[in-house]
Formats: sequence, structure tokens, C-alpha cells
Amino acid sequence: MTEPTEFLIENASLVLPDRVIESGWVAVADGKIAEIGEGAAPERGIDFHGDTLVPGLVELHTDHLEAHFAPRPHVRWHALSSVMAYDAQIAAAGITTVFDSLRAGSDADSASIGTDLALLAAAIEEARATGHLRVEHKTHLRCEIACDDVLEHVEAYAAKYPVHMMSLMDHTPGQRQFKDLETWRRYYMRKKPMTDAEANSFIANRLELHANNAGPNRLRLVEIAAETGAVLASHDDATAAHAAEAVGNGVGLAEFPTTMEAALALNEAGIRVMMGGPNVVRGGSHSGNVAAEELARAGVLDILSSDYVPASLLMSAFELPRRIPGIDLAAAIRTVTLTPAQATGLADRGAIETGLRADLVRVHVSGAASESPTPIVRQVWREGRRVS
Ligand SMILES: [Fe+2]
Repeated sequence: MTEPTEFLIENASLVLPDRVIESGWVAVADGKIAEIGEGAAPERGIDFHGDTLVPGLVELHTDHLEAHFAPRPHVRWHALSSVMAYDAQIAAAGITTVFDSLRAGSDADSASIGTDLALLAAAIEEARATGHLRVEHKTHLRCEIACDDVLEHVEAYAAKYPVHMMSLMDHTPGQRQFKDLETWRRYYMRKKPMTDAEANSFIANRLELHANNAGPNRLRLVEIAAETGAVLASHDDATAAHAAEAVGNGVGLAEFPTTMEAALALNEAGIRVMMGGPNVVRGGSHSGNVAAEELARAGVLDILSSDYVPASLLMSAFELPRRIPGIDLAAAIRTVTLTPAQATGLADRGAIETGLRADLVRVHVSGAASESPTPIVRQVWREGRRVS
């Protein structure tokens, strides 16, 4: 890159890990944060006119690549073009480190892109190799443990590319997210209408796959995570027993627990709890499970993820302090920066701190005095280089 990576930001509100400096400045050199100061800057720089500076966001679970790659049920868009469009949208959402959530294991549901994993992986690799990615991309393999071919997919992927995170999912009707079969019916019928008879045979098929595969696949996937050094995540924990199983599997974080009971047990066991940003912004879960806000109020929400809407990551972090008295802006921003970085062993980023990567986001809060202020991303730097 030929652009200068030495610059100064002034007249900004700085969100540090533990407090906010109302008016301050940051100097960047060699892609890192070189100096931080309060009040007037020592020289002129990029004048923020009071806008807020937050660390580049760290996103652990977004399936948004699928929205670009499979924009219609039976359409598959050009893989590299999808990756570039997705990357641009992620950067524009203020995210500078993204764990691309790729599904492993074919779903009987035809909308699944499971079998395209290899194609997407190759496209991401091509984009990385040509140096055109704005954001740093890591891999999160979402492993559907009841599938026949999940191990095949994961082993083939791991033989070729690094794996940074793996989540163990079980969307069998009657389990976890769909503990209640009626919830499963309502959710799936909306996604893909079917007759009662079709639904019954679909359910019977899923239960059989679960009985045959879930146990042995879980064990092997836990081993693969250890072999590859991937951080392991549990998914949709619904009970204290699920939390205990997560502990036994050595998971580092828990994605989207569906009940307060599970979240409290996970927290008690020292496992970080991650919830969806859309759940915070919309004021509840789209599939009828516990609200992220309730967990935040109980002090057991550690990480937010944009899930299916990239822009929700920053929006949800700005929403938390407005709704929950015990959470200030610094604490809210930690849920989308420092804590996800720590949970995945990324010690060089996630905070406005001297010596860390200059992954930085300029945020303007639109309608700050109104009922519903909205954070707008204006500028984004990754390692000191402007990427959006
Ligand atoms: Fe789920």
C-alpha cells in the first residue's frame, strides 16, 4: 500500500476500554496507535468535529456472505464478487476483523449452501492473496453436528486453510433453539412452506440423523478444534446441562444461549456469552428465545455479534447504555471490540491503547438529542490504512 499510515486524529470523543475522553486526540504511526492525548492535539490532524472514535469492531459470527452469494433461493452469485461486496459492507459497518461464518455439513433444507463451502473458501483465499480485502478475515466453521457429511467438510477445509473458530450447532427439531416442536414448525414453515405430511417426514429424517450422528460427530469436532487450535463455541445452549456439556467440550464462548438458565450457568462456569445485535436493536429474539437485553441487565452478556445484519453490531453497542443503567458506553463498546478479541486470542487489537493496531472507526451519532439516535460510520481504518 502506498498511502501514508502516519496521521493524527483530533477533536474526537475517544472511547477507551474503561472510560470516555470527551475531547482528545490519537496519533497513528506504522499501522499502530502511537500516542493518545486529552484536550488539544500537539499539531493539526483530521478534525473529527466532536465525532466519536471507537476501536475497529471484532465480529465473530456473521453469515452475511450468504446474503451476497445466495441472493435468491436458487441463485448462486459469482463467488469472488460476493466476497468483495460482503467485505465492503462489513468494512462500512465499522468491522475491521471478521470471522466469516461458513456452514459445514449439508442441510436437508435446500436453501443451505453447505456444499458450496469449498467454493467460498477458495474465493476468500483469492481475495486475500490479491491484497484486496478491506477487513481482516478469519474463519468460523459453523458445524451442524447431526449432518452426515459435516466431518468430511471440516476435515477437507482444515487440510487446506487455517480454522480460527468452530461452533457446534444442533438444529434438530426438538433440540435447543427449537426445544419446542411447534416453534420449529412455525419457524421453518415461514422459511419454506410445506404440508403437514412433508413436515412430519422432514422431522423424522432429522431425528434419525441426530440419533446416528450427533454424538460421534461432536467428539470428533472437539478433537479437530484442539488439533487446529480453533476456538470452540457452543450454540443455542438452552439448559444448565448444555452449559455443562460446553464446559466438558472446552468451549471458549457460547453463542446465543436461548434461556436465562443456560446463560447464568455459562457465566458461572466462566464461559463468555455472545448474543445477537439484531436481538438488542429489535428488542427480542426473532425465534422467540431470551432477549439479549435481559441477559445484559443480569450482567451475563459479554459479546455482541451482528448475526444477520452487519450494521446491527455498532447500533446494538450504542443502544445498550440507553437501555441499561449499569452499562456505560465504554462497557458497551467492549462487547464488540476488546472482549471478542480476547475470546479469540487476538491480543493486538480491540482497544484504543498505545501499541495496539490502529483499527479505528469514526462514528457520528445522528439525531443525538432525539428519541432514537443512530450511530453512522463515517471513516474506517485498519492497521492505519483507510478501508472505508
Ligand atoms: Fe441456532
